[in-house]
Amino acid sequence: MTIHETACAKINLDLRICQRREDGYHDLDSMVVFTDFGDRLSFSHDARLTFSIDGPFAKDLLHEPDNLVLKAARLLALSLGRSPDVHIVLNKRLPIASGIGGGSADAAAVLRGLVRLWNVPVTASDLALLAGDLGADVKVCLGSRPVRMTGIGDVLAPFDLPAPLPILLVNPGTPVATPAVFSGLRHMSGARVAEWRAGKSGDFQSYLMENQNDLETPALHAAPIIGEVLTAIGEETGCRLARMSGSGATCFGLFDNPQHLDRAKRRLKADHPDWWILDTVCR
Ligand code: C5P
Repeated sequence: MTIHETACAKINLDLRICQRREDGYHDLDSMVVFTDFGDRLSFSHDARLTFSIDGPFAKDLLHEPDNLVLKAARLLALSLGRSPDVHIVLNKRLPIASGIGGGSADAAAVLRGLVRLWNVPVTASDLALLAGDLGADVKVCLGSRPVRMTGIGDVLAPFDLPAPLPILLVNPGTPVATPAVFSGLRHMSGARVAEWRAGKSGDFQSYLMENQNDLETPALHAAPIIGEVLTAIGEETGCRLARMSGSGATCFGLFDNPQHLDRAKRRLKADHPDWWILDTVCR
């Protein structure tokens, strides 16, 4: 038997930092959505824990002796008092260290996939606790639904997107280390002033434009090419919002209609053949 899971990319449509905590982590306030596109994982029974990686970004992970996929499998097995006897294949389609939660989404997919493969009764709250031990963003990736994320990423309030949200993702190929971006943070805008209320807040894109990603400025210092990406997206016809996700370097564009998004994709691909450019839909 083989079980399949998709590890959808996590997009921070905005990301307001509230405060730095004593433990070094930051309280934040972020509207998070997930794309249809993601890494693909498969799980099948094996005598012991075995792992292989393929796909366009596999080579970027090969130097990591112990990535989050293996950690998640071991942690779940340990909590169940069993051996992690599974073969996992990761089809790595998302760029690594890129602000769209690829590693966290993979870890969450491992938790979901192994619960199914091993057919074990693990409650949602137990799974969320394990996710929290694997990283601040793993819990939100478990559900892969639109949420307003607060706390250090552990407090999740679901919201409804007014409609599926077409999005253009652009990554210039420069990995960005999250801790370095957080440590360069100088301005924190605090919790959002107005909550999004579907039907009452007007246009969702306008709502997002009233907010921002506080990590953009420190990420620009760490990787100035992010500025080039944001300008390139923002100059495209019909672009309503060009912004960075997470701690970067992936940026996204929201457009006034699907034709403009498609045109921007084709033009950016022609101008920047070495950038990773993808159009997908957030739900
Ligand atoms: O938990 P995770 O390993 O994904 O976090 C990576 C780094 O991001 C942390 O070491 C910390 O520097 C930073 N971080 C933070 N506040 C958060 C989430 C992450 O400062 N809420």
